[in-house]
Parts: sequence; structure tokens; C-alpha cells
Amino acid sequence: KTIYILNGPNLNLLGKRQPEIYGADTLEDVEALCATEASAQDLDIVFAQSNHEGEIIDLIHEARDKAAGIVINPAAYTHTSVAILDALNTFEGPVIEVHISQVHKREAFRHHSYVSMRADAVMAGCGVNGYKLAVAQMGHLLG
Ligand code: DQA
Repeated sequence: KTIYILNGPNLNLLGKRQPEIYGADTLEDVEALCATEASAQDLDIVFAQSNHEGEIIDLIHEARDKAAGIVINPAAYTHTSVAILDALNTFEGPVIEVHISQVHKREAFRHHSYVSMRADAVMAGCGVNGYKLAVAQMGHLLG
């Protein structure tokens, strides 16, 4: 089985971007972490990042045919995008939302997530380990 692991805007700068909040690991490190956990769970991954809302929606549409589950860190679109929520609502498998930071400890505008209205599980505040936990949970849900 294949899972899609999707990352939203500014996550290409992970490791350089506000490391006091998001840590020192890069997105390449996160991809390697996910690949290791996925192979332990007997899952294949497609790992992608985009700074563009429409591209993330296109990837979710692609996942409809190709993926058994979606792990998504929608980044700032979490808090703004009805369109990403609508796209996820067309997907039939499990969806797990990941945030590196503990969004509920941060500014009020980060407390609401459109994606959480669809997500089957939410990881927040575990750092990049949240991705590993999400992939492990996908293994549990899809196993
Ligand atoms: C984030 C939290 C969002 O509020 C923020 O806009 C991000 C990253 C996280 O992983 O902690 O870009 O999704």
C-alpha cells in the first residue's frame, strides 16, 4: 500500500526557518524518517511539498487513485483553506494531520484547523517525530 505525505507552504525551508519553533531537521531529514518508518510498516510513500494551494489540491486528487492514506502538514493553509478541506473530503482513506509545533500554544489564528474537520487523527507538538508517529498510525489503520 502507498501513502501520500504532503507538506504545505514554507516547509521547504525546514531547518532554516524559525528553528526555535520548528527545529533543525530539514524536509529531506523528515522524508528519510518517514521512509524508514514506512518500510517498517510495509508501506510505500510519495513525499511532496508545495508552496501553492492548487498544487496541494492536485496532489490530493492524485492520491484518490494512488494512495490508501494521506498524512498532511498543510502548514499555514491549515488555518485558511476550505479548498484543501473539500479536496480531502473527496478522499476515502484515512487522513492524519501533522503539525511540528504545538499550534494550540501559539497565536489564536493557529488554533482553528479546517483540515481537522476531516482528519482522523492530529499530531501537534511532537516536532518532526510527529510524522513518524503518523506513519506508524497509518500502518496500524491500514494493516
Ligand atoms: C505548522 C503550524 C502552522 O501554523 C504554520 O503555519 C506552519 C507549520 C507546523 O508544522 O507546526 O507553517 O503546520
